[in-house]
Amino acid sequence: MGRWAPSSNRAQGDVSRVEAPVTLRGYLLCVFAAFGGILFGYDSGYISGVLAMSYFKQEFGHANSTDDNAYNGYMYATWQKSLITSILSCGTFFGALFAGSLADWIGRRTTIIAGCFVFSAGVILQVASTTVALLVPGRLIAGIGVGFVSAIIILYMSEVAPKAVRGAIVSGYQFFITIGLLLASVVDQGTHSRMDTSSYRIPMAIQWVWALVLGTGLFLLPESPRYHVKNDHLEKAAEALSILRGQPVDSTYIKDELAELVANYQYEMNNMQSSWIDCFRGGWKPSGNFRRVMLGIAMQMMQQWTGVNFIFYYGTTFFQQVGLKNAFVISMITTAVNVASTPISFWTVEKLGRRALLIYGAIGMLVCEFIIAIVGTADAGSQAANYCLIIFTCFYIFFFASTWGPAAWVVIGEIFPLPIRAKGVALSTASNWLWNFVIGEITPYMVDSDEGNLKSKVFFVWGATCTLCVFFAYFFVPETKGLSLEQVDRMLEETTPRTSASWVPHDTFADESTRHAIGVMANKAALTTRAEHHEEKV
Ligand code: BGC
Repeated sequence: MGRWAPSSNRAQGDVSRVEAPVTLRGYLLCVFAAFGGILFGYDSGYISGVLAMSYFKQEFGHANSTDDNAYNGYMYATWQKSLITSILSCGTFFGALFAGSLADWIGRRTTIIAGCFVFSAGVILQVASTTVALLVPGRLIAGIGVGFVSAIIILYMSEVAPKAVRGAIVSGYQFFITIGLLLASVVDQGTHSRMDTSSYRIPMAIQWVWALVLGTGLFLLPESPRYHVKNDHLEKAAEALSILRGQPVDSTYIKDELAELVANYQYEMNNMQSSWIDCFRGGWKPSGNFRRVMLGIAMQMMQQWTGVNFIFYYGTTFFQQVGLKNAFVISMITTAVNVASTPISFWTVEKLGRRALLIYGAIGMLVCEFIIAIVGTADAGSQAANYCLIIFTCFYIFFFASTWGPAAWVVIGEIFPLPIRAKGVALSTASNWLWNFVIGEITPYMVDSDEGNLKSKVFFVWGATCTLCVFFAYFFVPETKGLSLEQVDRMLEETTPRTSASWVPHDTFADESTRHAIGVMANKAALTTRAEHHEEKV
């Protein structure tokens, strides 16, 4: 591999040929899918700004409101605000689960493209809306599309990426989430003072641009070779691999990698089926499906319990509540820190590994959270406490963005065996949205002045849940860096999470007869491709 790509330093035993080396073009093809993160970030981000716009309150609200935040007496009801915000998570939850079946049925790439279409339909309804009654179905339908995209992009990227840079490539997805969040606040900021429908229609319509770019781009990318293997379309798998790795179909590299995919799939299928029920079989042993699915679901749940969305969803109002003057600017700064810190993980996720990143990242976050809580409680309202809040919130976001943000997505793309991978990733992604929703709903009850009014003490809660994240990562998360997805299966069979980092691949799944059969098939595929090219030229 060239020097442009970070690579894992995991020892490879004598099995280094289970994957072809990758060209720069192949690498860029895999990176493109990360763009899908924009949909996730922008969609979760844009609505809070729109809800605060004066024109939006006038258009969607009712007159004679006594709410402090009303515009000229116009305001929407609290239940409407909560519905408009949370209906997206509801759509994404069900969208992600449904996509788990669809991706095995029509393919990973096709499911993402379908997600872009569904999303676009939701965007049209949102842009057309002038009442809550149309906006809510628009957000629901767009949410279903985001659910398709957010679950299956992780699956697709994990399956097409070369193993040495898979973590870095999937972290790219998180990077685009952060860019989406930032763009949403910039666009909201740019249009919020307009006093016509363009104030909210522009931020809504811009969502469509991301879907267009993603859908069109994916149209040009190959389907996941592992999906073709699952459907026994080996020639198509060889062609897809050859495009992704930038190697000829009949090269030894492609034949060896494909032989490994096929042999592993056959091995896994001897042990399991691929229905939803099968996701919950296999008991508590580290390689059992049940354990892996629970790990994925808990991974995404714990990512939400780091408390990060408290800052992104409620940061502005919280900063105001504790008496900070530039609450809006501080929120923009935290969003910018989020973007700027994520690329660090492109390198660390491969060098230090997923496990170390999750353990040390959670320790970093909990230290920041407890400092904010202790100083904010002991010296509430002082300038020192305010500076402490701002500085340690930035450090906290730095730790999240460079560790748990990306690593949680990387891990769920890697831990499932092919027969249940689509469903496992879908269940884990649905868990992200479910907990995103639950935490979003309960947080106001902890901090609102007429409710729990916890002020900085709320960081004791996040510090405590982050402490659980450390234990979770230490006891349950295996180290998957530098292994092919097939080697991860073997590693899980032979190690525990705590011994996983030192595991060295020692065996391949493919035996001589599989390699021979794949070799013959790949030669045939290469001849067919050449003949087709020849015919085209003639
Ligand atoms: C999380 C989101 C969060 C975002 C912040 C993602 O990995 O799943 O809930 O808002 O990171 O960058």
